[in-house]
Amino acid sequence: MAPQNIDNLQQSFQNAISFQTSDSNSINEDQVSNSLTDSYMDSNIFMTPKIINKANIKALKPFNTGDIKILLLENINQTAINIFKDQGYQVESYKSSLPESELIEKIKSVHAIGIRSKTILTSSILKYAKNLSVIGCFCIGTNQVDLDFAGKNGIAVFNSPFSNSRSVAELVIAEIISLARQLGDRSIEMHTGTWNKVSNKCWEIRGKTLGIVGYGHIGSQLSVLAESMGMKVIYYDILAIMALGTAKQVSSLDELLRKADFVSLHVPATPDTVDMISSPQFAAMKQGSYLINASRGTVVNISALINAMKVKKIAGAALDVYPNEPAKNGANLFSNSLNSWSSELTSLRNVILTPHIGGSTEEAQSAIGIEVSNALTKYINEGISIGAVNIPEVSLRSLNLDQENVVRVLYIHQNVPGVLKTVNNILSNHNIEKQFSDSRGGIAYLMADILDVDAADIAKLHELLEATKYKISIRLLY
Ligand SMILES: NC(=O)c1ccc[n+]([C@@H]2O[C@H](COP(=O)([O-])OP(=O)(O)OC[C@H]3O[C@@H](n4cnc5c(N)ncnc54)[C@H](O)[C@@H]3O)[C@@H](O)[C@H]2O)c1
Repeated sequence: MAPQNIDNLQQSFQNAISFQTSDSNSINEDQVSNSLTDSYMDSNIFMTPKIINKANIKALKPFNTGDIKILLLENINQTAINIFKDQGYQVESYKSSLPESELIEKIKSVHAIGIRSKTILTSSILKYAKNLSVIGCFCIGTNQVDLDFAGKNGIAVFNSPFSNSRSVAELVIAEIISLARQLGDRSIEMHTGTWNKVSNKCWEIRGKTLGIVGYGHIGSQLSVLAESMGMKVIYYDILAIMALGTAKQVSSLDELLRKADFVSLHVPATPDTVDMISSPQFAAMKQGSYLINASRGTVVNISALINAMKVKKIAGAALDVYPNEPAKNGANLFSNSLNSWSSELTSLRNVILTPHIGGSTEEAQSAIGIEVSNALTKYINEGISIGAVNIPEVSLRSLNLDQENVVRVLYIHQNVPGVLKTVNNILSNHNIEKQFSDSRGGIAYLMADILDVDAADIAKLHELLEATKYKISIRLLY
């Protein structure tokens, strides 16, 4: 067999067509007819398009990378913009998130959108996204997107879960020392002209115990850094995870809280971690210990933290994440109108507050930009969904340069019995070179490369697949 060649695939896909119907239950045959006609006339490969009933099919167009429109919000890294532009996509990029009404207007026409954590893509926004194939979350989390709604409408979602782990771990190290030495307070005092040279309750961190809650990508990086500075490390995780260095896993959160001088939280936002650290947990912590939260804002009950600090149970805290965070940068946004306890929190001593910057370094943003834009490009150009968080992860090897009249079928459907039989009946008129299918919950995704398909066959293939009962979206790349 000839060697695989990705350039060839790219070239082939320049001519490919994108067929997606965001409402699988209300396919408008009329629109399909228009689109097919336009597509084939435009690409000059199908001079006598089949006339199909016209009513409510969304406008389709030839898949040409020059037609792919990508909306990038929230100052996504230049590395991503460059990768998309190199593909010939039309890129519109904004420094901040958009107001809802503007977002709805823009999302109607784009094929892909890139966001970070401030843009909330609910079903009431996504229902307008009739051309959208893919969402790129250029960050760790994806809970700003209604993943279920997106999946059920054939919109794949990608993120970059671990590109900024090191950045977060380094910030936490800085905070451990800053809290132990009350650096925040000393700095504020100096900025206001106060000289306050004290050593009372200022500590070295060498020999102190760091308790890490959640020993995943960030927690384990932090473990290594902390040990290298002479700290003892214990950790608690719901999974049994092998320790790095001489760190030790403890069997309960309570044990960790009782033993640690510094507690640093690195768990995901799940129902189980809401208010994971609240009054009973502060009561269990060592007198004069410190809390650091750079995970998610829901994990710590801030009112309980304020109380624990007021009675001096907790000697200091560093928070990078909050239950409610402003959607943009600006003065006076971190206020009581956002979180009712804001002014009380900001009035406390030895509390370091940062605006969700744990992962915000040039290195992390650059790595995230490359990772997510590559995932989106592969999905748009080749249908490969490896790394998607809401649809099955499926991949097919690339085609050979000498393979002509090949069509790649990308068929997302409801995961119900009998669909593959129907689809394979349709495909079986041709030589199916390879295919792969997988399911995730109620969604299934089939990729298939079909050989010996001429232009007229493509229209027929599309027409038949479009008419299948449990289809969510179809794209044909050729
Ligand atoms: N501040 C920032 O800018 C920033 C940047 C990146 C990540 N984060 C956040 O940091 C957190 C950790 O990220 P990560 O990449 O290390 O995640 P990860 O998935 O690699 O690790 C999370 C760990 O938490 C454990 N865990 C889950 N539920 C738990 C529970 N109830 N009790 C104990 N352990 C539990 C998991 O088993 C896993 O080992 C996430 O919430 C993420 O959103 C914040």
